[in-house]
Amino acid sequence: MDRLVISGGTRLRGTIKASGAKNAALPILASTILGAGECELSNVPRVVDVVTMIKLLNLLGCSISQEGDRVVAKCDQLRSSEAPYDLVRTMRASILVLGPLVARWGEATVSLPGGCAIGSRPVNFHLAGLAKLGAEVSIEHGYIRARASRLKGARIYCDVSTVTGTENLMMAACLADGVTVIENAAKEPEVGDLASFLVKRGARIEGAGTDVVTIEGVGQLHGADHEVIPDRIETGTYLVAGAMTRGDVCVESCRPDHLESLTLKLRACGVTVEEGKETLRVRCDQRPVATDIKTGAYPAFPTDMQAQMVALLAISRGTSVVTETIFEGRFMHIQELQRMGADIKIEGHHAVVTGCERLTGAPVMASDLRASAGLVLAGLAADGVTEVSRIYHLDRGYERLEEKLGALGGIIQRQKGSQSVKIA
Ligand code: EPZ
Repeated sequence: MDRLVISGGTRLRGTIKASGAKNAALPILASTILGAGECELSNVPRVVDVVTMIKLLNLLGCSISQEGDRVVAKCDQLRSSEAPYDLVRTMRASILVLGPLVARWGEATVSLPGGCAIGSRPVNFHLAGLAKLGAEVSIEHGYIRARASRLKGARIYCDVSTVTGTENLMMAACLADGVTVIENAAKEPEVGDLASFLVKRGARIEGAGTDVVTIEGVGQLHGADHEVIPDRIETGTYLVAGAMTRGDVCVESCRPDHLESLTLKLRACGVTVEEGKETLRVRCDQRPVATDIKTGAYPAFPTDMQAQMVALLAISRGTSVVTETIFEGRFMHIQELQRMGADIKIEGHHAVVTGCERLTGAPVMASDLRASAGLVLAGLAADGVTEVSRIYHLDRGYERLEEKLGALGGIIQRQKGSQSVKIA
């Protein structure tokens, strides 16, 4: 398995470009099932999860190809309505084909995604919502089976605002007979981006990005072109890297309006943040100051930035309390940061972080996508060499990570398998 070898202590300086948002590209790709006609997508990130989704869609009968950051997709016929276990277990977001399959073809057999390192990850609201839309839903041998001759519009309330749940139900409702209202809908920008793509294809959707989304079903969707929004979590990750290494980092082609909760917290830590129309720049020439963080659904502080912020707070002046309200298991990075000298105590869903002057490099192990990012950032700021193993987690959601960090002056190399490379 590949690993990253990082020699810490260099101040990151320079400008890099944000890639397209993984968590917008995945539902948008799944939504190509909903109608015939060619769709051309641009700014699609070259990450493993996108490759996995394209593989799944081609298995189902779509014809999708990726060239750089452009994807051309057509879905005229169905070859299979089954999303198999061995594929779904590698990417939980495969559940996003469930709603489109039932809406377009009247049937779907999708492996239950199961839990992952950060939590149990139930999908009960996806299933309850589909049942409200008139689908017959059952669980058999670890698979979700859903059937409906034609879905019917309904009023759906999700007790918890779920991002992919909102996306699944919004996609299904596009072809339902009548009007659907989703209440307590997720407001993440990726939900809004999916909705704007669907509207370009002829869907009738209002309120996306608010907690009440109304969808009037139509007979069919036609093709359309779309540019995927920039990845706010990738952008945030590089901004935190700049702050942690006391550098000067600018991310261009990003959406500052999607990162207000993060920039607010970086400023609270004493980091200078400059916002342009499509750029965000951080400068930090002294040790950051502790601040408290509480994750929540958008527009609150994103859970996908929690690990990265814990790494920053671990070297800040003072004590911070980090509260993770979304996923019960999302503190896996902490035991690895402790190996690097971080002083962090976990108390339930709180982490009490007492900042230290510097972390020390050490061999650490990635457990999930964003935990890995937190460990890489810690390695960049630490004294000495850090080896992050199991970085296949990182490759799922970060495009050319070591290339982008290298362009900012980071000393970081990918080691293939057991090869050992000395870093000067
Ligand atoms: C999406 O996951 C993202 N993934 C996650 O990003 C992100 O962390 C998460 O939203 C929260 O922002 C994609 O968009 C592909 P949820 P999702 O359903 O949709 C509970 C990354 O690193 N819940 O919004 O699976 C759930 O347990 C990934 O890029 C139910 O109880 O998350 C959680 O506590 C990791 N029942 C809360 O809701 C359900 O049916 C929010 O989860 C669905 C969710």
